[in-house]
Amino acid sequence: MNSNFLLKKIIKYAKLNGFINQSSEIYGGISGIYDYGHYGILLKNNIKEYWWKSMVQLNKNIIGIDTSIILHPNVWIASGHKHLFYDLFIKDNITKKKYKIDWLIDNFFKLKIKKYIKEKKNIKILINKKNKIKNKIKDLIKKNKINNIKDIIEEYNICNPENGLLNWKEIIKIDLMFPIKLKNEKNFLRPETAQGIFINYFNYLNINKLKIPFGVAQIGKSFRNEIFSKKFIFRMKEFEQMEMQFFINPKEEKKWYEYWKNKRLNWHLSLGFKKKKYRFNNHENLSHYAKRATDIEFNFPYFGFKELEGIHSRSDFDLKNHYKLSKLSKKNFIFFDEKNKEKYFPYIIETSIGLDRLFLSIITSSLKEEIITENKKRTFLKIPEFLSPIKVAIFPLIKKEELIKIGKKIFNKLKFYYNSIYEEKNTIGKRYVKQDLIGTPLCITIDDESITKETVTIRKRDNMKQIRIPIKEIKKYIKKFTIEEALKKL
Ligand code: GAP
Repeated sequence: MNSNFLLKKIIKYAKLNGFINQSSEIYGGISGIYDYGHYGILLKNNIKEYWWKSMVQLNKNIIGIDTSIILHPNVWIASGHKHLFYDLFIKDNITKKKYKIDWLIDNFFKLKIKKYIKEKKNIKILINKKNKIKNKIKDLIKKNKINNIKDIIEEYNICNPENGLLNWKEIIKIDLMFPIKLKNEKNFLRPETAQGIFINYFNYLNINKLKIPFGVAQIGKSFRNEIFSKKFIFRMKEFEQMEMQFFINPKEEKKWYEYWKNKRLNWHLSLGFKKKKYRFNNHENLSHYAKRATDIEFNFPYFGFKELEGIHSRSDFDLKNHYKLSKLSKKNFIFFDEKNKEKYFPYIIETSIGLDRLFLSIITSSLKEEIITENKKRTFLKIPEFLSPIKVAIFPLIKKEELIKIGKKIFNKLKFYYNSIYEEKNTIGKRYVKQDLIGTPLCITIDDESITKETVTIRKRDNMKQIRIPIKEIKKYIKKFTIEEALKKL
């Protein structure tokens, strides 16, 4: 089945089941901007909690903060975003369509490499050529001659992938930050949460009394003027990031970079998807702030391996630039390492993941269809149990007063600990179908034995098997499926 069709299917599923819908839908929506429904936000909150606790609660040297979306305009000058955070496109003269330069070159060589492999030719020549082109472009950007990039594209015959023609009009530069105005002064919505962490650096030393190495974690909204916001919530204009900046001794840069690469990959593996769904992609083209960088890529069901999380070694780039622009004295920024009797600007290793992108990876990989009998199939969300929006659903088998009473009593006890649902409408089969669709791992049914023997059945989402347990053991039984238990396995 074609990937667009499958993606449309998941978009429809997410909407119909109360996970995600397009924002401002009644006015036609805005591309790249989405709202989360009830089950969507419950799942999102669980993902956040799992990430947050794995960072802040499990590590005594990592603290959490929550900084503002609007920062002083100088932040974006010091961080380099004001001048260096943009995408370059080339516009076709006939179709007027714009193509991202990086994508155009990568796609051009991807197709050529495929052909060469088929013809058993040496692809090394192609890789060298691609690197040469990218270096030439880098050089032009450095010299502020971006218009000349068109000449390079033409020189190497990189044509429009849709019509095969070499008919380029011009290079277009699009700033990625959203401009705003505050008291007539130009400012921006933050494009990353990281800067809020850097500019509070002194507090970690003076108030929290942290000693290097230490980390600061933050979850919050970021905004980017992405003009191609396709692929549902993969690339959005307004999205959430979960970032952690780890402040280290510069001499230990390699050690901590490797440490966080492995630590983060293991965190992803703890979600239970197969190891082969993840891979590292070390960057050749580094962001303006990075000394080295890698992406943890995920094999998304509908569009293959794509970036899920970035691990960046940011050196002292950010702190040094804030020092230079803020004119605060150097001693504010220098860390005195008592243990090693050294003074330095700390280096930073960053782990940065898009919450929405992680959400997408989880639901697209968890949505399953299963044939039960010849003419019966079911759809269920085989989500990691500890993340499921609803942990448990409670159903009286039939509308009988005694069963309803026991069901409500169980619900009123469990609701303080777990997101629970009590439902007595429809047949039991229909109630299971609904819970399967939103990924509820456990359904409790109250029947006559609940009255006579004080037991209930628990039906498991993944294999539909039922077990019978005493009512008084329900709470303990559900505990196995919580975030707290998952954290113990990290
Ligand atoms: N502070 C570093 C930083 O922001 P990035 O590689 O630009 O680095 C980090 O972004 C992560 O944020 C990405 O790996 C991705 O998961 C997420 N992300 C970036 N842009 C996004 C967008 N437009 N929509 C959704 N998620 C995005």
